[in-house]
Amino acid sequence: MGACFWRLCAILFVCAIVTTAEDPYRFFDWNVTYGDIYPLGVRQQGILINGQFPGPDIYSVTNDNLIINVHNSLPEPFLISWNGIQQRRNSYQDGVYGTTCPIPPGKNFTYILQVKDQIGSFYYFPSLAFHKAAGGFGGIRILSRPKIPVPFPDPADDYTILIGDWYKANHMSLKAILDRGKKLHFPDAILINGKGLNGASFTVEQGKTYRFRISNVGLQNSLNFRIQGHKMKLVEVEGTHTLQTTFSSLDVHVGQSYSVLVTADQPAQDYYIAVTSRFTAQVLNTTAILHYSNSAKPVSGPPPGGPTTQIDWSINQARAIRTNLTASGPRPNPQGSYHYGMINITRTIKLANSAAQVNGKQRYAVNSVSFIPADTPLKVADYFKIGGVFRVGSIPDNPTGARMYLDTSVMGADFRAFVEVVFENHESIIQSWHLDGYAFFVVGMDGGLWTPDSRKQYNLRDAISRSTTQVYPRSWTAIYIALDNVGMWNLRTEFWGRRYLGQQFYLRVYSPVESIRDEYPIPSNALLCGRASGRSTRPV
Ligand SMILES: *[C@@H]1O[C@H](CO)[C@@H](O)[C@H](O)[C@H]1NC(C)=O
Ligand SMILES: *[C@@H]1O[C@H](CO)[C@@H](O)[C@H](O)[C@H]1NC(C)=O
Ligand SMILES: *[C@@H]1O[C@H](CO)[C@@H](O)[C@H](O)[C@H]1NC(C)=O
Ligand SMILES: *[C@@H]1O[C@H](CO)[C@@H](O)[C@H](O)[C@H]1NC(C)=O
Ligand SMILES: *[C@@H]1O[C@H](CO)[C@@H](O)[C@H](O)[C@H]1NC(C)=O
Repeated sequence: MGACFWRLCAILFVCAIVTTAEDPYRFFDWNVTYGDIYPLGVRQQGILINGQFPGPDIYSVTNDNLIINVHNSLPEPFLISWNGIQQRRNSYQDGVYGTTCPIPPGKNFTYILQVKDQIGSFYYFPSLAFHKAAGGFGGIRILSRPKIPVPFPDPADDYTILIGDWYKANHMSLKAILDRGKKLHFPDAILINGKGLNGASFTVEQGKTYRFRISNVGLQNSLNFRIQGHKMKLVEVEGTHTLQTTFSSLDVHVGQSYSVLVTADQPAQDYYIAVTSRFTAQVLNTTAILHYSNSAKPVSGPPPGGPTTQIDWSINQARAIRTNLTASGPRPNPQGSYHYGMINITRTIKLANSAAQVNGKQRYAVNSVSFIPADTPLKVADYFKIGGVFRVGSIPDNPTGARMYLDTSVMGADFRAFVEVVFENHESIIQSWHLDGYAFFVVGMDGGLWTPDSRKQYNLRDAISRSTTQVYPRSWTAIYIALDNVGMWNLRTEFWGRRYLGQQFYLRVYSPVESIRDEYPIPSNALLCGRASGRSTRPV
């Protein structure tokens, strides 16, 4: 057992129960600062990680332990969260305000994550205030362990492509608009890897095949992604190997991640990579460059157009994104060996999003409850049994039609329950929902109202397992979740202004056994704040 491991023991205090001590460790030292960035040619205040915008990619292999020491050099509290990293038994590391105390200015905090039983493409982002509008995000990739088969040949190279809508306005003025109870105006542009029009370039060698890991790290717009003259073969979605389907363009909703293979099989020149916003009256677009190393010609002609039909095209594409049941995921056994369609549902939860004014200010809600943060992270309050911070059951299981109200909404759920969640979107704009701590099966989506009859059209065989799903305007999406991860988990819209103004809550997955086999104790290096200040993280 290496020195690193024992050094960690001192931090973690739970060596006896961390059964994965042999898994490798990767150490990261990150300095988070404000710095000037010029993505659209004008100076902006960006959030940099080790001087970079976007932040550095995290490379890892299934089961690696990631030890990430984050130094907050901003003049305000800061947290990073990890989209799609499941933090098994360990929601304290999740880095949202419901689970983790903010890192005070000038201080540092070491996240101890394990990418347990995961593969695939994800990203990290700053979760507090409106920091995400200033940067601080980056890609996370989890490669398969060497002996686990991957259902496609090794690509010649593997690129992270972070796409997202972007404002020229400073993130603090955007936050101030929301704090005043106003809506944000439409974003100004789309960035690709932190760059504006034709700023990003990806070099390929003719005849070779490349993996592109595309994540939508933006604030509110679904984006369509395509490459002039090239097809994309979809191979992985948020940790699941897909049936390898070829697309000429791909809708990437906010918070989602996709891996595609692209073969440089065209004449040697440069090609446009085009990204366009979707489902809004106003349209944003941008381009980057696919550069052949032996290119004879710069980009030419109009950038490729996107899909001309809107929702039908997109919903059909979504239904075509399915799990390859015979391919391996993080383990050697096939992904299809877990028969989610044969498990009995123990509970159905219906969640309806809504927008309204409360006390003259714009708010957003789930089942009429608009989330407001407590003075103490919920998970931390739960650990120390500090009463009065939140109430389990403060959000109903079904839409009630009640007028919108504010509360620190927490839904209780039993460890090992098998839950059906139906997202009902009665609004005229698309939604994108994410659950921390889990991947879930997207069993169905359709226009109109969900009824129990809608279950007849569920895909109970090879639905995709992922952590972020879209819900089309005036439509529903149904998911199945096996609640096998004890903790306090954020269920949220990925539309950042709406989340900031209340469209989120926490799912408290609880086991009455309270065993360290099901959930690790609070890490001994945990920051304590609010009503937990001055408590001790040492086991008694
Ligand atoms: C972080 O970067 C700032 C600005 O370059 C520097 O002043 C500070 O010392 C750095 N902190 C750490 C912990 O590296
Ligand atoms: C802060 O960083 C230092 C090294 O720069 C490290 O020794 C210390 O453990 C870190 N503190 C926390 C709470 O992570
Ligand atoms: C599914 O995975 C298997 C096993 O790796 C592979 O041989 C097959 O080509 C894949 N099928 C599709 C349609 O992607
Ligand atoms: C991108 O937007 C600009 C300005 O609205 C427009 O002139 C241009 O035709 C658009 N390009 C594409 C490919 O949609
Ligand atoms: C599911 O429910 C049905 C009917 O209630 C029951 O017969 C069956 O045994 C259950 N299956 C499992 C796997 O629990």
